[in-house]
Amino acid sequence: MSQVHLHPTKDNFVEKSLVDNPKYQAMYQASITDPDRFWAEQAEKFISWYKPWDTVSEVDYHQASIKWFEGAELNVSYNCIDRHLPEKANQTAIIFEGDEPGNSRHITYQELHDEVCRFANILKQRGVKKGDRVCIYMPMIPEVGYAMLACARIGAVHSVVFGGFSPESLKTRILDSDCKVVITADEGVRGGKKIPLKKNTDEAIAGCPNVHTVLVIKHTNNATDWNSDIDVDYKQLHQSASTECAPEIMQAEDPLFILYTSGSTGQPKGVLHTSGGYILYAAITHKYVFDYQEGDIYWCTADAGWITGHSYIFYGPLANGATTLVFEGVPNYPSASRFWEVVDEHKVSIFYTAPTAIRALMALGNEPVDLTSRKSLRLLGTVGEPINPEAWEWYYKVVGGENCPIVDTWWQTETGGILITPLPGAHALKPGSASKPFFGVKPMLLDNDGHPLEGEAAGSLVMAQSWPGQMRTVYGDHKRFFDTYFSQFPGYYFTGDGARRDADGYIWITGRMDDVLNVSGHRLGTAEIESALVLHPKVAEAAVVGFPHEIKGEGIYAYVTLMIGVEQTDSLKQELTQFVAKEIGPIAKPEVIQWAPGLPKTRSGKIMRRILRKIAANEFDNLGDTSTLADPSVVEHLTKNR
Ligand code: WTA
Repeated sequence: MSQVHLHPTKDNFVEKSLVDNPKYQAMYQASITDPDRFWAEQAEKFISWYKPWDTVSEVDYHQASIKWFEGAELNVSYNCIDRHLPEKANQTAIIFEGDEPGNSRHITYQELHDEVCRFANILKQRGVKKGDRVCIYMPMIPEVGYAMLACARIGAVHSVVFGGFSPESLKTRILDSDCKVVITADEGVRGGKKIPLKKNTDEAIAGCPNVHTVLVIKHTNNATDWNSDIDVDYKQLHQSASTECAPEIMQAEDPLFILYTSGSTGQPKGVLHTSGGYILYAAITHKYVFDYQEGDIYWCTADAGWITGHSYIFYGPLANGATTLVFEGVPNYPSASRFWEVVDEHKVSIFYTAPTAIRALMALGNEPVDLTSRKSLRLLGTVGEPINPEAWEWYYKVVGGENCPIVDTWWQTETGGILITPLPGAHALKPGSASKPFFGVKPMLLDNDGHPLEGEAAGSLVMAQSWPGQMRTVYGDHKRFFDTYFSQFPGYYFTGDGARRDADGYIWITGRMDDVLNVSGHRLGTAEIESALVLHPKVAEAAVVGFPHEIKGEGIYAYVTLMIGVEQTDSLKQELTQFVAKEIGPIAKPEVIQWAPGLPKTRSGKIMRRILRKIAANEFDNLGDTSTLADPSVVEHLTKNR
């Protein structure tokens, strides 16, 4: 990478920033030399506890046993709301910007308190108690945040399911964690299109006998089916619900939420995060990575259905008493200027989005950006997938006017918060590099035999030290937790990503090393898509791989073997694409389906995905060793018919 364009830190930014380079060095050293001491100090600074901890950390990666702040007591919703009230009752906590321009609203910390308490009391009325799991399947409206915080207030464990998932996907998630209450809306609206959330919920819970309550927020007010045994109109209970609800006292290690995410095998797993460590880590990373300071208007464009929405729309910013913007819409509706119009309208100073959105907007040219001022912006961020240097430079020059540092933040659902990122006042920026570890984070690169690699090197990215925001288990399956993350390289947390370290110690994420795809920043398992395809009666076998895609980062490429006698038609391809959308959700639709009379397999029957990836990427001359194939002619057929 000889032509990396280095962007030094800017003096005017550094002067006002929270952390400059010497401070980063000192804090990082302290966090690695004596982590317990460092985290105890931060825990006192960032979080209000009812009772202090007995031990800071107790971690054994050989047993996949991770505990932080054992013995301590707190309530996460208290930390995100109540403690700010003495000084910030009238400060805006949430700016809501609806799908249609001109439809926005400010919610103060006092109003947030009252809404969350009402919501919590309604959940209690419906029998929800500490430890119960509650499923949230919602559009991006303030109520999604109220619902999450209401669960946290009464000690219920929320499981937010992205509104783009199908009824089938919703059903498996409800069943896996045995949620008995589902919170949804009549419909969502994105880019002018309606999403039938209540209808999807009805379909899903037809297979969930334990669900006794569906709490419906009437958002568009269009008619839906109504089953008065189960369905409850949120707004009807709202008026009479009290605006006071004492926060439940929770142990630091009590579960806060479950969030399902895709892995390389099987069905999505329920990533479990607990209370104390998670909220501390969300708060501290939000503050230092985004250089958050009083008066900033902060906007993260993620959906609440993903970890980014959990940690950096709601929990992190609210724990810090910030003003956070919740956006219901999409980047290009009603026009490609929308993001920047919202920035101008609400004087957003910190803006955090995904590379896929930047690439999509970049493809529409500079004009929609140039029509807006964006002079309130002072910091930009990206998350979810690698950002190519071209998109980075466009974001930097055209959107940020060369005035705003960009933090390229690397992390995962499992990590709870950002682990690798530049700190904007401390590090020169290299477009495409996630740069340096956050405090308390000790990344290492290992070779295939698990030996640590020093200096300039590329290998498997692992973490040698725990941090408070780390997931604690896979809900209901601790063995799977151990097997997935701690068995390959004993004593380390394996991220599933590969990375390279350059001569300056900057880290460059090279992408997943397993069968997880990253499509427009959304994580999908190839195994899930394959399972969906083979459910179709005309499909005998399927293999799914990713291929490079200009906007989405990665596209989905499916090789499908049909049952004997079934005709290979374009309309069947359409049908299969729709079938996957129905089984999983529109985000899982294959971009390309190729008919495969046979799949390349080893003599022991293992599909050789390496070869399928090369064919999908059009790299025929570089197929590597095919001598172990049971039937080499299969490859020839596939390359000819690509
Ligand atoms: C990828 C999203 C490169 C990575 C917060 C990781 C990234 C997976 C970056 C986690 C980045 C995330 N640069 N790759 N800045 N951020 N990834 O669980 O492969 O949805 O393992 O969490 O996204 O995706 P997840």
